[in-house]
Amino acid sequence: EKGTYPHYMLKEIDEQPIVMRKIIREYQDENNELKLDKSIRSAMQKADRIYIIAAGTSYHAGLVGKDFIEKLAKIPTEVHVASEFSYNMPLLSEKPLFVFISQSGETADSRAVLVKIKELGHPALTMTNVPGSTLSREADYTLHLHAGPEIAVASTKAYTAQIAVLAILATDTAKAKGLELEFELMKELAIVANAMEVLTDQKEEMERLAREYLATTRNAFFIGRSGDYNVSLEAALKLKEISYIQAEGFAGGELKHGTIALIEDGTPVIALSTHENVNYSIRGNVQEVVARGANALIISMKGLEEDTDDFVLPSVHDLLTPLTSVIPMQLLAYYAALHRDCDVDKPRNLAKSVTVE
Ligand code: M6R
Repeated sequence: EKGTYPHYMLKEIDEQPIVMRKIIREYQDENNELKLDKSIRSAMQKADRIYIIAAGTSYHAGLVGKDFIEKLAKIPTEVHVASEFSYNMPLLSEKPLFVFISQSGETADSRAVLVKIKELGHPALTMTNVPGSTLSREADYTLHLHAGPEIAVASTKAYTAQIAVLAILATDTAKAKGLELEFELMKELAIVANAMEVLTDQKEEMERLAREYLATTRNAFFIGRSGDYNVSLEAALKLKEISYIQAEGFAGGELKHGTIALIEDGTPVIALSTHENVNYSIRGNVQEVVARGANALIISMKGLEEDTDDFVLPSVHDLLTPLTSVIPMQLLAYYAALHRDCDVDKPRNLAKSVTVE
């Protein structure tokens, strides 16, 4: 039930800190050790390469997860759009492990891949919000997202839950392999939960920014580098699907290779800057688009802000910034859709689970 909320989407955005804390509880034992099914731990340890398969927002979470698995657990990882995988099946490694990420667990494109790789005899893990769903039943292992029912077509709390559970999976594997980690994941996730709360409390500001940047525009661009690039893809998808604004997310460095031709007077460009090593370069990109008339907004993180006009996120661990930077993106999309009188929870032409290929 959406209670006093006008839309499920807003309720689900607000639930993200609660979901984060629930995930921390569910995946930690009484000694504060990570708690994961032993069979999953051993499947991860055996794998020489991880193949993440997903669609839409879950695919975007997979892109963030690849970073975790490669940087923490040191296992090469590929992320594939489910509907493309069957046409262009990559050369598989000797001991692949397939990880299906799906909020609903019913996405037909992902299921088609699962059926195919099961025929080939490869192991599969499904990360889903619905244990008992088709993808969960047909895989060898399931990791539960614990996000609670997600009703709005636009996925919000499932995305952050997927990223958190991917971080837990990567960290658990790293520990099982005896690799050194310089941070304690669960403590960092607790910091993230608090930061999320600060952000969900800034609705008035996000409504104002959505009005200023997105109320009447025909198109919008999101730019980022490194981890911020992954979030810019998700930001663009969110805006497209509920506000019908043509939006594109792309890597800051790619601007000069074509997209900058689209910038004209008043074009909104929203830039993410949550990593120290990209802060200088992404701000350079912002200067380039502003010089061509863009209406630019920078979302940066505490310690990295250079401009008093930045929207500043609370500071969290460098690897985990997608968990916080996505929240203003979700809220911008929500308020842009409201300002444009769109049906927020049930956008046109879309279904919550896509059960046809
Ligand atoms: O249930 P799934 O996670 O498998 O769904 C995948 C996509 O259909 C889904 O994420 C879709 O892109 C959302 N509407 C995005 O908000």
